[in-house]
Amino acid sequence: MDWANLDFSYRKTDKSYVSNYADGAWDEGQLTGEGTITISECAGVLQYSQSCFEGLKAYTTEDGHIVAFRPDMNAARMENSAKRLEIPVFPKERFVDAVTQTIRANAAYVPPYGSGATLYLRPFMFGSGPVIGVAPAKEYQFRILATPVGPYFKGGVRSLTLCVSDFDRAAPNGTGNIKAGLNYAMSLHAIVTAHKNGYDENMYLDAATHTTVEETGGANFVFVTRDNKVVTPKSSSILPSITRISLLHIAKEYLGLEVEEREIALGEVKDFVECGLCGTAAVISPVGKIVDHGKEIVMSGTAQGMGPVTKKLYDTLTGIQMGRIEAPKGWIHII
Ligand code: PLP
Ligand code: COI
Repeated sequence: MDWANLDFSYRKTDKSYVSNYADGAWDEGQLTGEGTITISECAGVLQYSQSCFEGLKAYTTEDGHIVAFRPDMNAARMENSAKRLEIPVFPKERFVDAVTQTIRANAAYVPPYGSGATLYLRPFMFGSGPVIGVAPAKEYQFRILATPVGPYFKGGVRSLTLCVSDFDRAAPNGTGNIKAGLNYAMSLHAIVTAHKNGYDENMYLDAATHTTVEETGGANFVFVTRDNKVVTPKSSSILPSITRISLLHIAKEYLGLEVEEREIALGEVKDFVECGLCGTAAVISPVGKIVDHGKEIVMSGTAQGMGPVTKKLYDTLTGIQMGRIEAPKGWIHII
């Protein structure tokens, strides 16, 4: 494997984890070498998009351990996603155990320390049983696939250009705060349009008023003020990013910075100096420019790659993940 040149795409590995739900219970689950799935043509996932997913990574640390970052947080978020979609919950302890089994079975695909690549784990759940009237399925599958990945954005760490989208990602009281597959299906036209127009990603605004900043299709925002305060949007329709929660802790407890989670008006974005997209896949990707209907907002601190604060956040987060910096209790799950 050419670890240093991996992109963010699917490569089949040796084993996936599968558990099926039928007659009101999850089976004991097992690893499988089979990378394809056979389901009813009328499965809930195919007809009514009844599915949710998670994303987390496994790393090789400096001292040669394989670790996963905060899998308990993914387990908890998936529980919320499942409940909102009327999918039976996969127990949190079993989720963490399944992640552990999947990584162990694919240890050969965990990229070496310092390669810049990671093993991406994609837990997902879907309605596998048939439904024709609009209703939750009676049967489900929980599955975890593992695939080695490089940087999410093509070209590695470089400053991204975003466009303020006229499309909405999530309605108030909708599904924006859970990781439902349907949120991503409806963002596809917006991202293809953004790419066609030369942008890397969309900045979505709140659907009700189109005045406040929400997130992108696959990551939350972090901004840095002129006086080094880390500011991030508060909204009930964005995905609660585990990376963002971790970065806010790092900013406060490791870097001694002030942090603020609050509504951010689009109009005040010009006053920030650094902007980053944060997420498992994105890690922290610097944003150089945001284009609002022809008007360019330049993020001066992140116009040429990472800025001073985003760089410190990035170095500390990845340092914790790779075992160079002591982690807060419970963040690192040794495989
Ligand atoms: N927002 C969206 C819409 C996402 O898909 C993701 C990715 O998981 C994130 C934010 C970042 O979340 P996390 O840091 O938990 O990966
Ligand atoms: C992740 O960061 O894990 C995600 O699920 C985002 C997705 C757009 C790749």
